[in-house]
Amino acid sequence: MIDELIYLGIETSCDDTAVSVFNNTKNIISEYIITQKIHKLYGGTVPELAARDHLKYTLKLILYILKIAKIKINKIKCIAYTQGPGLKGALLIGISIAKTISLLLKIPNIGINHLEAHIMINFNFCKKKILPALVLLISGAHTIMLNMTKYNLLNMIGESSDDGAGESFDKIARLFDLTPANGISIEKNIPYRFVYNNEKIIKTKQNIKHYNFSFSGIKSNIMKLKTENNNLNMKNIIYNFQNTIINIFTTRIRNILSTNLSYKGIIIGGGVSANKEIRIAIRNISEEFNIEFNKLPKKYCTDNGSMIAFLGFIKINNNKRDYKLSIKAVPNLRII
Ligand code: KG4
Ligand code: ZN
Repeated sequence: MIDELIYLGIETSCDDTAVSVFNNTKNIISEYIITQKIHKLYGGTVPELAARDHLKYTLKLILYILKIAKIKINKIKCIAYTQGPGLKGALLIGISIAKTISLLLKIPNIGINHLEAHIMINFNFCKKKILPALVLLISGAHTIMLNMTKYNLLNMIGESSDDGAGESFDKIARLFDLTPANGISIEKNIPYRFVYNNEKIIKTKQNIKHYNFSFSGIKSNIMKLKTENNNLNMKNIIYNFQNTIINIFTTRIRNILSTNLSYKGIIIGGGVSANKEIRIAIRNISEEFNIEFNKLPKKYCTDNGSMIAFLGFIKINNNKRDYKLSIKAVPNLRII
């Protein structure tokens, strides 16, 4: 029988307190996530309040998921935590708790790059051969396109030079007073089979040649439209906004796939990749080019503790571990 090894993952980079226990034989065995509500009052995440909420709940959630899984805390063999990128105070709470447990149980701990975890969690669900893959990471503050040739070998293709795609969803939701002010509300407010499409409403200039993205212009255009016209049809605008974003991604992906025929698959990750229409559009491209598309379950697209525990498991198995107690958060950690 294979020895069961229990990995604990802690994610506190922004406004979700998320924890998970991952086991090398049974996979994700227990997880929990609390999305902080307190920020609703302020129209955006307040760093100090985020840190306080993480302090209030992280340890409680760890004990809760262990109880649900009927696992004693001393059975944990390794602890993984988000080291960055994210809000410094919020990260420090998760790191401090992880290091304390690591010290008390005399087990290794490992700092995880949140962005890398968003991508790597795909491999917990991907059964087919997908590498080399074209990777699209679309989270709140980050929009990055990468080339992944091996398990841990990533090369940059392009990234956003201003807002992340998720931020633009958040800003447009806020502009139309949708709550919560995020992409989920945008998606929910677009009626099924909406047909009124006027693509000229939202103009956007993207430099296809350099593969970098820009989203701030789209937001400014919509703001301008709204101030110039009081009778705007909100549903029409958000529908066209979402389509504009989809077009930006699909144009890039098609462009890259038609010039590089070595790709075997497409991997997506980050909160925006939970968007149904974006997923459909990318899946369609994969069929068009006859390559794999990993269908990452929606709940693992947005922030979660399992992606941290899973990447901890991978890294520990590659001998990347740490017993040190130095507590270092890296708010602007890059993926490469
Ligand atoms: O990866 P994530 O959970 O947190 C960060 O690492 O940033 O991504 C959060 C972002 C938010 O900007 C949110 O508006 C966006 O993901 N998002 C969505 C959807 N669900 C979350 N955007 C579009 N459609 C969705 N269904
Ligand atoms: Zn994230």
